[in-house]
Amino acid sequence: MNFGFGQAHAKAHLLGEHSVVYGYPAIIAPLLSLTNKAEIIDSDTTVIETDNFSGSMYQLNYRFSGIYNLLVELLNFFESPDLTFKLHVKSNIPSKKGLGSSAAYAVSIVKAFCDYFDYQYTDEEVFKFAQIAENKNHGKSSGGDTYAVMAEGPIFFDSNKDATILKLNTQAYIIIADSGTAGLTSQAVQLVADNYEKNPTVYGGYLKRMGEIADKGREEIIADDLKDFGQLMNENQLLLSKLGVSTPYLERLIKITLKHGALGAKLTGGGLGGSIVALTDKSETAKEIKSALSKSGASESWISKI
Ligand code: MEV
Repeated sequence: MNFGFGQAHAKAHLLGEHSVVYGYPAIIAPLLSLTNKAEIIDSDTTVIETDNFSGSMYQLNYRFSGIYNLLVELLNFFESPDLTFKLHVKSNIPSKKGLGSSAAYAVSIVKAFCDYFDYQYTDEEVFKFAQIAENKNHGKSSGGDTYAVMAEGPIFFDSNKDATILKLNTQAYIIIADSGTAGLTSQAVQLVADNYEKNPTVYGGYLKRMGEIADKGREEIIADDLKDFGQLMNENQLLLSKLGVSTPYLERLIKITLKHGALGAKLTGGGLGGSIVALTDKSETAKEIKSALSKSGASESWISKI
């Protein structure tokens, strides 16, 4: 019996979501404790089983056409269009919370197929396949999430869609909190596109500044300057709010983190709900922020070292 396994993790945008869709850079950190695991084994009939779906390829196409398209492309690539298999996907990444669950889904499936066919993949190949599902899911996807859910450290995702790992030589923690409200990335991306179309000068200016902030953020990480990096996160949040993707509750959670000593904080991912991220250089402060967020009603929160 043949078997294949693939895994990917969650991510949090530290700087540059949305503007990255317009070709500007972004800085994105992996969240290694939240994972998505895919297993494929031979079977007489094809069955896809996930946390919220169980059915055939036909049914999958109806519910999750991005993943269906991805599977068809993978089977063609491996010259096995008639293969019948059981694909099982299990995730503890909350979905629709700006944490990259859809990218992790796609990447883990691509890796499981590569493992099943004993194929040595490159990150670029995994990226190309995973983007089939991501582009279908989000309407327009920058691809930053896809690299971040494969990376072992924070990445600088540049305008050529290349990802380089940023090395930090000082202690840094991010606290991520799920607001408990879903935020659909496709809707948020569409909202920004609509606003941009209505007023390209003003919204184009916001997006350009967000790109400059991400570039500056890269320099601050190289210089190990978390204080200035935190200020950039705060400025990025102001711009996200001007773009129209923040919410009063996200703003409230962000304020709480700053009150408890965060160096900077912002929403992370598409917004319109979803999650926030805060930065600190002290593990005690990270714990204090996490506890304050729980008391303020955040449904879940995590501390991650970057
Ligand atoms: C979503 O996690 C990040 C966005 O910038 C969309 C994308 O990069 O494709 C909002």
